[in-house]
This record gives sequence, C-alpha cells and structure tokens, in this order.
Amino acid sequence: MTFLKLSGQAFHRAPHAYLAGALAAGSVAETNAMIVGRVTLVLSHAGIASFLKDTERFAVDARNAGHKSAFGMSFLPKSLKVLAENLLTLDEPDHTRLRRLSDAPFRRTSIDGLRPAIAAQCSALLDTMAADGNTDLVTGLCRPLPLQVICDLLGVSPARRAELIRVFNGFTSGSVLAVLQALMKTGWIQREFRAEFELARREARPGLISDLVHAECDEGRLSEDELLAMVFVLFAAGHETTTHLISSGVWTMLTTPGARDRIAAMDDDARAVAVDELMRFCSPVQMTKPRYARADTDLLGVPVQRGKPVMALLAAGNLDPAVFDDPLTLDLARRPNRHLGWGWGPHLCLGLHLATAEAEIALQQLLARWPGLAIDGDPMALPWGKRFGTRGLAWLPLQMKT
Ligand code: HEM
Repeated sequence: MTFLKLSGQAFHRAPHAYLAGALAAGSVAETNAMIVGRVTLVLSHAGIASFLKDTERFAVDARNAGHKSAFGMSFLPKSLKVLAENLLTLDEPDHTRLRRLSDAPFRRTSIDGLRPAIAAQCSALLDTMAADGNTDLVTGLCRPLPLQVICDLLGVSPARRAELIRVFNGFTSGSVLAVLQALMKTGWIQREFRAEFELARREARPGLISDLVHAECDEGRLSEDELLAMVFVLFAAGHETTTHLISSGVWTMLTTPGARDRIAAMDDDARAVAVDELMRFCSPVQMTKPRYARADTDLLGVPVQRGKPVMALLAAGNLDPAVFDDPLTLDLARRPNRHLGWGWGPHLCLGLHLATAEAEIALQQLLARWPGLAIDGDPMALPWGKRFGTRGLAWLPLQMKT
C-alpha cells in the first residue's frame, strides 16, 4: 500500500499535486499520524463518504473496538480524560444525545443572527491592526476572531475572556513551550469553566453555557463533566480550524491571479460560493479523527483488523476528479461543490455555518478596507503551521494597500 508523507513545509505550501497523485494510485493508503501511529487512510470521495457513514463497522470511540480508552491510548491523565470524552470521541447513543442538545445555536438561522456581532468583532480587530501597525493577519485577526466569537456564543463572562483566550492561543501558537504551558493549564481551564457553570446555574443568562446548564431534551440532560467536555471541544474544534481557513483562504486568494479583485467585486451570495470553494481547495482540516474497526473487516478491498485506526483524508477526497471538474483549479464560482471539508456523516462539523460566516465577513471587510491587499514579501517563503492534519499559515504579513 502507498505510504504518504503528509508533513513538511513543501507539502503544506502545495499539497494538491501530491494528493492528486496519491489518489490516482489508489483509494486507500497509509501514513504515520501523531499519537495514533500507523494508520490506514481513505482517499476517494465516494470511499470517504461511505466510510464516515459506516458507524456499524467503524467507531470513533476506541473502547467500542477493544481499546481501554476513548483515544486508543492505554493511559490518559485524569485532567485530560474528562475532556477527551466529547462529541468527536463518542458513538451513539451518547453522541446523538449530546449533538441534539448542542445543535440549535449552530443552525444557519441562529448563526445568521450572530453575523452583526461577528462583523463588529472583526472590524474592531482590523481597527486595532491598523492602529498598532500590526500587518500579520494571523495574530491580528485569524487567531483572535474565532476565539472571541466562541466566547460570545458561549456567553463567557467578560472577566474570564482575556485569560482563556490567552491560554487557548497557546495550544495553537506553534511554539512547543506555549503548548506545554497551555497543557499544564488544563486543570485551571476546567476550574474556570466550572465557575462559569455555577454562575449560569444561579441565574440564566445569554449564551450556550447557560442554555446547556438548563437544557433538557428527550434523551435527558448533560452531566457537569459532559458539559465541560462540550465547552472544551467547541474551543478546540472551532478555534484553530477557523484560524486556518481564514489564513490559507487569504493566502490562496492573494496568490491566485485575479482572485482578489474578483472576490472584492462579489455580492454576498457570490462570496459565499467563493468561500465554499476556498474551503475545498485549502482543506484546513486535512483529515478526520481516527475511526476504529469494531471487528476484522475489509475496506475498499484492504483488510483492516479489529481495533486498527482508519482516517479519511478529506484533502484528497476534495480533489477527486470523479466529483470535481478540473479539481486542481480554484474555481470561485464552482457549483455544486460537494466538498468534504466539514467531514461527512454523523460527525459532520457542528460549527460549519459559524466558521463560514467568520470567513465570509473577514474577506468582505479586508477587501472593503484594503482593496489593494497584497502579501508582504515572497508568498512561497512564508512558514506554514506544523500541526499534523491541519493546514494554515504560521504568520501572514500583508501590505494593507487601499
Ligand atoms: C474552517 C473551520 C472548521 C473546519 C474546517 C472544521 C472541520 C471539521 C471536521 C472535518 C469535522 C469532522 C471530524 C471528524 O469526523 O473526525 C468537524 C467536527 C466538529 N466541529 Fe468543526 N470545523 C471548523 C469549525 C468549527 C467551529 C467554528 C466549531 C464550533 C465552534 C466546530 C465544532 C465542531 C464540532 C463540535 C465537531 C464534532 C461534531 C460531532 O462529532 O458531532 N468546528 N469539524
């Protein structure tokens, strides 16, 4: 089976030809994934769609495939264990129950109601960049915007926001020291969130934390540990991913001849189509979390033993010529666009409308302020984030030209 190397600066800068070549060689390949180790990958669009729906044969919770813990690791510190059992690592019936409890605020209509607040946050961040002379879009906008928006959505008290944002920023800053410091703070994060739950329990207030604290649904309500894991996964899943969509989307727009001016001239509907294509083309989340075979089985002709991990390489499925015409070309008017950037099946991204709204607003405001926006320096020399399985820039210096 083909072994894929899915890391390194050259890969992150231009993964398309490599992934298309891998897909042409077969629908299944292998790689070494961080923490998980040797893993089977599904590459084709059809293969990914059926694999991610096949919850009878593949479980996200490794315990349902013979492992001792949800992550397939024999040992997890207690402080991480409670956070590790969340939407992304639970199978039905728990997954269905948690998803129903958290669904409503993430629906398109609810997110449309948030757009003015997101636009205000975005505008304030761009004001600060201009006032401070900060031309790095990653620190100025891509990282803080998703975190501030999640704090708003959850209804985190103003007094706790700055420190929480600082700590979560550490997880994704790319510096090993900052990540270690952030990991050491997981106990502190849990105490801060538990204090927020207590406040919301005493008095209902706006935001998802309060809604969830008081929520009931047919399947019951959330335990405090489930609530904690839910809030944590929203920060973790909704932060770096959106950061990467905005940074890689802006980089792609500014390195594709004509794309900036075309997007600047678009109305809201056309811009939404363009952002969807940037999602396909950039694939900020390159692959899903692992699924584990519940029993010895066969996947697209390849045997998979019980307990073995399999991941969907979404970035390859997004280049499948069986589904997309001219898949290696950025087509800002591509419709339909059945890309897999948000995953597929029961674990389809909960925050897709939120992330889409943030990216659309960010592009609209950037180009309205600075129609002559350009990358400052050689775009091909800019560093990409090193985190396995994601794709976004470590920093993105811009010339803010009007
Ligand atoms: C561009 C930004 C984003 C991308 C590319 C993205 C991508 C994904 C993908 C591929 C999955 C499926 C993972 C799997 O099947 O293993 C997923 C799941 C999830 N995402 Fe996102 N995401 C983004 C933004 C967000 C935001 C803003 C939030 C919320 C604040 C969010 C919350 C979640 C949650 C909770 C799940 C798990 C859903 C479940 O298991 O039922 N994501 N996301």
